[in-house]
Amino acid sequence: MQRYEFPPEFQFGAATAAAQIEGAGHEDGKTDSIWDAYCRTPGNIIDGSNIEVACDHYHRMEEDVALIKRLNLDMYRFSISWARVRPDDRDFNALGIDFYSRLVDELLANDITPWITLYHWDEPRALLEQGGWANRDTAYRFAEYAARVYEELGDRVEYWTTLNEPWCSSFLSYAAGIHAPGYTDPKQAVAAAHHLLLGHGLAAKEIRSRADGKPLSLGITLNFTVAHPADPNSAADHDAARQIDGAHNRIFLDPLLRGSYPADVCDDMREAGLDRVIRDGDLDIISQPLDVLGVNFYNGVAVAGPSGSEINSTTPYVGAERIRTLSRGLPVTDMGWEVLADDLRELLIRLDKEYTGPAGIPIFITENGAAYPDVCDETGFVDDTHTRLAYIRDHLIAVHEAIGQGVDINGYFAWSLMDNFEWTFGYTKRFGIVRVDYETGARTPKASAHWYARTASRKGFDAPA
Ligand code: NOJ
Repeated sequence: MQRYEFPPEFQFGAATAAAQIEGAGHEDGKTDSIWDAYCRTPGNIIDGSNIEVACDHYHRMEEDVALIKRLNLDMYRFSISWARVRPDDRDFNALGIDFYSRLVDELLANDITPWITLYHWDEPRALLEQGGWANRDTAYRFAEYAARVYEELGDRVEYWTTLNEPWCSSFLSYAAGIHAPGYTDPKQAVAAAHHLLLGHGLAAKEIRSRADGKPLSLGITLNFTVAHPADPNSAADHDAARQIDGAHNRIFLDPLLRGSYPADVCDDMREAGLDRVIRDGDLDIISQPLDVLGVNFYNGVAVAGPSGSEINSTTPYVGAERIRTLSRGLPVTDMGWEVLADDLRELLIRLDKEYTGPAGIPIFITENGAAYPDVCDETGFVDDTHTRLAYIRDHLIAVHEAIGQGVDINGYFAWSLMDNFEWTFGYTKRFGIVRVDYETGARTPKASAHWYARTASRKGFDAPA
């Protein structure tokens, strides 16, 4: 056995998102988000489900905070529903704000540090009617909403994330058509990506100008992939890996941390009009100083260069429509995602070397975890020792190794605190370290949760060498 000890200040947490757990879809003044509307169209969600009730967290908030406490977690990352706080993007809703204010107070009373994400994909439907993120104006609406939420909660909350995974809320949503609003237009996707970044920068400025000496750790969360050339000897596969790295990682990293889009990505996305949506001054706004970079990581990929001339219209990779993803023969999760913790270590070392290290920005792993087809016993207990627990343990080892190599990583959030609505997959994919019985609402910690609770309280664990 080998001991993996984390620094005493390293934070262990778990993450969720409003649309995935809250329910109360139309209660206390909340109106449709784009996901409420998307769920209503038959065929969009594979099990035909919706988010009207989800995990009923809105009504079980105190119970869920007690659960987080029992798991010994230092931090809890959750998101605010824009459509609850500012329904229809009109007047701010006191009842909506009050829910998050009570959640923050409950966490603080239990000695759990709150971490707020302002946008985890659920904008008010009313904004989509104006074009959603393809419309530049949405960035300004987002900054207004962010400023107000900060005014309400900034006295008690230090950790703020503007956007969660803008790659998903642009490319998956506007190009691949598999997330709300379900569009398949590369031009809109590229515009959405730029406007999301602009919204981030505008919101960051609003928040920082209101901090007024209060402790503030402000950042953004990106989802990364590690793209390997399927054949290391193939120039075409190397170029495919470059393109995927550009379309997934660097298209966000570079404007945020270097103040410009990478030249190769601009070329790849020229036809989709990336150049045309950028206005003078935008990149200065986007490259606001960051206090933290949130890293979400699930899997890497092996990619190969174009074969044939056919364009796959549902690829999320605008400008890389003919790149193929190949199996590396690795084990996969229930999402079909390959499991290789070394990819996370490689990613963290690269981010540190090329981006966060030179800028002196610490990293938090804001999401990492895995869905598996759980089997529960009659008490609702799931023994996921060899699946989810092993995934989280191995990825924490990768984090530990990266820290050992000098990467500044301050914490890790398991995705997710509990089973929840996995977007297009409805309730069919279970990422929770806590099982949710959707009939009764009962929460039952899985083996991974027990292990993670021990790890959090001891700031480390033993694992086979
Ligand atoms: C990242 C997203 O932020 C989260 O909402 C989602 O459930 C997980 N990935 C798993 O797919």
